Amino acid sequence: MTNIPYIDLHCHLDGSITVDIARKLAALQNIELPASDAELESRLSVPESCEDLNEFLECFALPCSLMQTKEGITESVHLVQEYMKSQGLAYLELRFAPQKHCDNGLSQRDAIEAALAGLKMSDLHTNLILCLMRDRGNEKENLETVELAREYLVKDGGVVAVDLAGAEALFHTDQFAEPFKKAREYGIPFTIHAGEADGAKSVKDALDYGASRIGHGVRTAEDLALLEYLIKNQIPLEMCPNSNRQTKAVDDMSKYPIRDYLAKGVKVTVNTDDPAICRTTIAKEFEYLEKKFGITAGEKKIMMLNAVDAAFTDDSTKAALRAEVESAF
Ligand code: ADE
Ligand code: ZN
Repeated sequence: MTNIPYIDLHCHLDGSITVDIARKLAALQNIELPASDAELESRLSVPESCEDLNEFLECFALPCSLMQTKEGITESVHLVQEYMKSQGLAYLELRFAPQKHCDNGLSQRDAIEAALAGLKMSDLHTNLILCLMRDRGNEKENLETVELAREYLVKDGGVVAVDLAGAEALFHTDQFAEPFKKAREYGIPFTIHAGEADGAKSVKDALDYGASRIGHGVRTAEDLALLEYLIKNQIPLEMCPNSNRQTKAVDDMSKYPIRDYLAKGVKVTVNTDDPAICRTTIAKEFEYLEKKFGITAGEKKIMMLNAVDAAFTDDSTKAALRAEVESAF
């Protein structure tokens, strides 16, 4: 195997702020951070004792506080791309919620423009996914994100899709019909975090809305007919093994269904979710799968080709990525 052209389809900007990136963002904006790298890292990553997704999501406060200016957003996108490139990425889909960057007066449009400016500064092939948030009282903000996605949507090189992120067990997928009805009407492709902290019904609701991919989908097998539907329709799952271990998406990792899903023909892809928060890289995710579940080079290749098929990009980009994956194995 030569150098693997890694693909990450599920990576959150605010989950990718490493100690090094945080220090650069803080210096740029005169923000004070803990002097000790160890202390900073412990605030930027999930504790081993993490109980669930709700606790996991508490780790995002600090990185988000560093991205409340246009400069902070632009630079963070640029630095995260450079970091991911250094980890062997050939193609990245980076997601962020514009509404989480409006604490100090920026509009969602400002946040998107700032992220797009950052995108131009790196040569790592990257597309943006705009997240709607599971929250209370933010219906207006979620609809605004959909309207802006419609305006900025491109086939490649910018905003390519929307997503729904946040606390799935607290704010169920069935509460978000309105924005996804609009997204569908506008022809905006979308993925939805589902079957991570909530069960198969959440995945079903996401598919009923018209999601073309599912974020995580770990718990889909609670409904075998739904699993069959995923297989028949080749709906990609964006699986993120170490994140799922940390958020206790399954209570026992020896029962993590990735091998079973692959054997049954589910279109599984492997992703980082939040490389800094989860203290992971895409290469480490595959290593983990090799060690824990005996995933073979052939299976790795299948999952990488699945990622090519699933990517929210144009056909010429997919053809180039497919050729790179083929020649690497
Ligand atoms: N935001 C960042 N990581 C997330 C996850 N794993 N689930 C839901 N929202 C998220
Ligand atoms: Zn995620």
